[in-house]
Amino acid sequence: MLAIYEHHITRGVEDLGDYEPEPLNGEDLKRRRKTMRRKRLPHLVADIDGAVAGYAYAVPFRKRPAYRYTIKHSIYVHPDHLHEGIGRRLLPTLIEACAAAGYRQMIGYIDGANEASLRLHEACGFRRVGVLPSIGFKFGHWSDSVMVQCPLGAADTTKPGAWVRSPDNGAAWDAAK
Ligand SMILES: CC(C)(COP(=O)(O)OP(=O)(O)OC[C@H]1O[C@@H](n2cnc3c(N)ncnc32)[C@H](O)[C@@H]1OP(=O)(O)O)[C@@H](O)C(=O)NCCC(=O)NCCS
Repeated sequence: MLAIYEHHITRGVEDLGDYEPEPLNGEDLKRRRKTMRRKRLPHLVADIDGAVAGYAYAVPFRKRPAYRYTIKHSIYVHPDHLHEGIGRRLLPTLIEACAAAGYRQMIGYIDGANEASLRLHEACGFRRVGVLPSIGFKFGHWSDSVMVQCPLGAADTTKPGAWVRSPDNGAAWDAAK
C-alpha cells in the first residue's frame, strides 16, 4: 500500500521544490486502518497472490453531524496492474460496503485530466456533479477537480435510521443498523 501511495501521490506531481509532502509510514497506515475499522468505514485491498495490487477506502465527507450519511472515497491501483480490471472490481465492492454500512451518498474528487478514473467512476454509477476549476497545480499548469457522486442504497428516498454515538470515540458516529 505504501508503494502504491508513494507512486501515485508523490510521483503524480512534478518536483515540488521546497514543498515536502508528508511521508506516510507503515505505522501511520496501520493506525488509519484501525481507526477506520472502528468507525465501520471500509478499507479494502485487492490481493494478487498475497500482494496488494490496489486499495480503496472511504472517510466521512465532512465532520459535522449533518453530513454523517455522506462519505468520500479514494481508490488506487498498483502501477504494475493498471487497466487489468482491478478498479472495476474494487470500486463496486467499496460502494456495496458503504451502502451496507448505512451511508447514503458517496463523493469523489477526480483530476479533470484523469480519463481513466472519470471513466471508471461513470461506469460504476457516479455522475459528474460539479467542477472546481484550477484548484490544483502540477506539471506546470493549473488543474481542475471534477466532483462525482453516487447514491447509495435508498439514498434520499427514505429517512435514515437512528444513529448512535460510538462508545469508544465520542466524536464519531456509528452506522445505523
Ligand atoms: C483510476 C484507476 C483506479 C483505474 O483502475 P484500473 O484497475 O486501472 O481500471 P480498470 O482496469 O478496472 O478499468 C476500468 C475502466 O477505467 C477506464 N480506464 C482504465 N484505465 C484507463 C486508461 N489508461 N485510459 C482510459 N481509460 C481507462 C476504462 O473505461 C476501463 O473500463 P474498460 O476497460 O471496460 O473500458 C487507476 O488508473 C489508478 O489507480 N490511477 C491512479 C490513481 C488514481 O487516479 N486514482 C483515482 C483518484 S480519483
